[in-house]
Amino acid sequence: MASVQGRLVHIVAREYWNGWLYAIEPSMVSAHLAAGVDCRRIEDVDEIAKSRFAEIREQAWDREPDRAAFGAWVEGELAAVCWFQARESYRRHGGLFRLRDDEAELAQVTTASAFRTRGIGRQLIQHGVVEMGRSGFRRLYAKIWRDNAASIRAFESAGWRLEYRFVSIHWRVLNRPSIYKWVPRRRQAPTQSSGA
Ligand SMILES: CC(C)(COP(=O)(O)OP(=O)(O)OC[C@H]1O[C@@H](n2cnc3c(N)ncnc32)[C@H](O)[C@@H]1OP(=O)(O)O)[C@@H](O)C(=O)NCCC(=O)NCCS
Repeated sequence: MASVQGRLVHIVAREYWNGWLYAIEPSMVSAHLAAGVDCRRIEDVDEIAKSRFAEIREQAWDREPDRAAFGAWVEGELAAVCWFQARESYRRHGGLFRLRDDEAELAQVTTASAFRTRGIGRQLIQHGVVEMGRSGFRRLYAKIWRDNAASIRAFESAGWRLEYRFVSIHWRVLNRPSIYKWVPRRRQAPTQSSGA
């Protein structure tokens, strides 16, 4: 968000989102891992916290029910992390939309800078989707910031489909979000500029 626009919005709003909502059904996906990439569920958040990469350490979120983390290891190093949240965890952490109990959000995916553009983000997203499907989730969503070209491309390349464009403003005075959604004429988000 541009800084002046951002500062203005934060005077009246607690949270502001200007992005794209993507979705996928795990039953439609299979994960194909390239040689050298090992994806698996992360049970111990310390594995994230002890990374030598700051952007990975920042993903050491609290473990709680209805949250799941997955990691991609390359050359023995945790190269990327993604988090899903559902149900109470989704609602507690500002979930914008009404998700059913068999729906979840991919809340964050991060590849360490040193490992970017090597297909690791896409493979981790696909792996996470398949594993969430095995855990009983039938539909997954992801909010992507409007100009985050790397993320848009990674999700599209992992098979996710654009649902709609949305802007959401959580008004301080109303203490609830207003969500404005629309379907763009071209159902494709821009992936030319880098916003990651
Ligand atoms: C988004 C992110 C996870 C992608 O990780 P990655 O490991 O580099 O992704 P991949 O190498 O699997 O790339 C997937 C696709 O995106 C494309 N891509 C990667 N970076 C890109 C960029 N900066 N601009 C445009 N496209 C890009 C790749 O070319 C690839 O396209 P293809 O499948 O058509 O060949 C990574 O850029 C990141 O951690 N960004 C910061 C955190 C962030 O914004 N997370 C998303 C929040 S929703």
